[in-house]
Amino acid sequence: MSASRKIQFVVPPGGRLTGRLRVPGDKSISHRAVMLGALAEGQTRVTGFLQGEDTLATLAAFRAMGVRAEGPEDGRLIIHGAGRDGLRPPAGPLYLGNSGTSMRLLAGLLAGQAFDVDLIGDPSLTRRPMRRVTEPLGAMGARLTTSSAGTPPIRIQGGAVLRGIDYDMPVASAQVKSCLLLAGLYAEGRTCVAEPAPTRDHTERMLSGFGYPVERTGLRVCVTGGGSLTGTDIDVPADISSAAFFLVGASIAEGSEIILEHVGINPTRTGIIDILGLMGADVAVLDPREVGGEPVADVRVRAAPLRGVRIPESRVPLAIDEFPAVFVAAACAEGETVLTGARELRVKESDRIQVMADALTGLGADARPTDDGMVIRGGALQGGRVDSHGDHRVAMACAVAALRAAGPVLVEDCANVETSFPGFARLAGGAGLLVGVTGEADD
Ligand code: S3P
Repeated sequence: MSASRKIQFVVPPGGRLTGRLRVPGDKSISHRAVMLGALAEGQTRVTGFLQGEDTLATLAAFRAMGVRAEGPEDGRLIIHGAGRDGLRPPAGPLYLGNSGTSMRLLAGLLAGQAFDVDLIGDPSLTRRPMRRVTEPLGAMGARLTTSSAGTPPIRIQGGAVLRGIDYDMPVASAQVKSCLLLAGLYAEGRTCVAEPAPTRDHTERMLSGFGYPVERTGLRVCVTGGGSLTGTDIDVPADISSAAFFLVGASIAEGSEIILEHVGINPTRTGIIDILGLMGADVAVLDPREVGGEPVADVRVRAAPLRGVRIPESRVPLAIDEFPAVFVAAACAEGETVLTGARELRVKESDRIQVMADALTGLGADARPTDDGMVIRGGALQGGRVDSHGDHRVAMACAVAALRAAGPVLVEDCANVETSFPGFARLAGGAGLLVGVTGEADD
């Protein structure tokens, strides 16, 4: 765990991005590889695994429940599946750090186990809403409690008998959908989840890859409890959410041209490419191919003048993690960008609407937060000191903004970049974004 407040990024102004780079593995897919690999019969061999704090927290949780795993080393991980009913009671609470995905998916996966377990996290995770999973899980017969505010810790009482439900999700959330499908593996009968708009479908794809039947009709997904999973090989693509910082950086920094290798382009994740395309970015998807049930491509980005746009609400769930970077693009575009229908951003690792509006305003941009989005008028950026509030994606987005700033950008509270993008400063430096790292982690 790295709860340090002390890491700062110091980024000189200007520069351009060039070269070929491969960002680390997809966080969502890496979490799910561990979870399904742990429940499978036999071995699961993972390559390209994200060795970030969030996914390592998931791995540690399964090790604490008796699952054997070798690695990870250079992205290679071998999981010796314990089988659907092979998890053992952990000796203490499962600490999930900063990771909302770990907590929400594990709440579902553990709701039908024979043993009690507590899920805890860092201060940011401890502020995040959990009723969105505990309420539908309760309707399935699970026995879970949270704080009176509906926040972690989540206490799960073992031995509950789960029944499948047919659930209409009020928010478009892949975490809620995945939580219920994982609980559904342990439920009597069918568990169906209908989403109000498409969200990332890695759980469904990976369940199929492990040989578990999944029925999909339009926006409704169903699983039937009682089946088993068979270990498999998983090649994790590079994370489009990490690539997003370079997609934006190369777009806004004159003279840039980069190729991002082996990026996951699952259509439930490519909202960032669509939004940048609407803004006039020069992004080309090269050599599209499929790797283990997930589409992958190399993505070439060249600098281009961007224009402000009204972001279609239909794209919001498909780019939900990319808005810190999109806001930076908007601040460098000509004209006004308007985002609506994105209230979910207020309950991510930070309140990304307020925190990004404050950061961009601090850099001299015209960024006005609204209840469910932001209005940004593009213009010149100055240097300055901004606070990421411990949010990894805010920290990286602000570092990228320096490419167009008139003075150095100093970003506070950057230790959590390790949750999703270990080696960010080194990789960015190789491409031409010089991120100085100062301070030390507490641990
Ligand atoms: C994730 C789903 C998204 C996303 C998060 C990862 C996942 O959350 O923000 O970073 O792996 O399922 P919501 O589905 O709650 O929007």
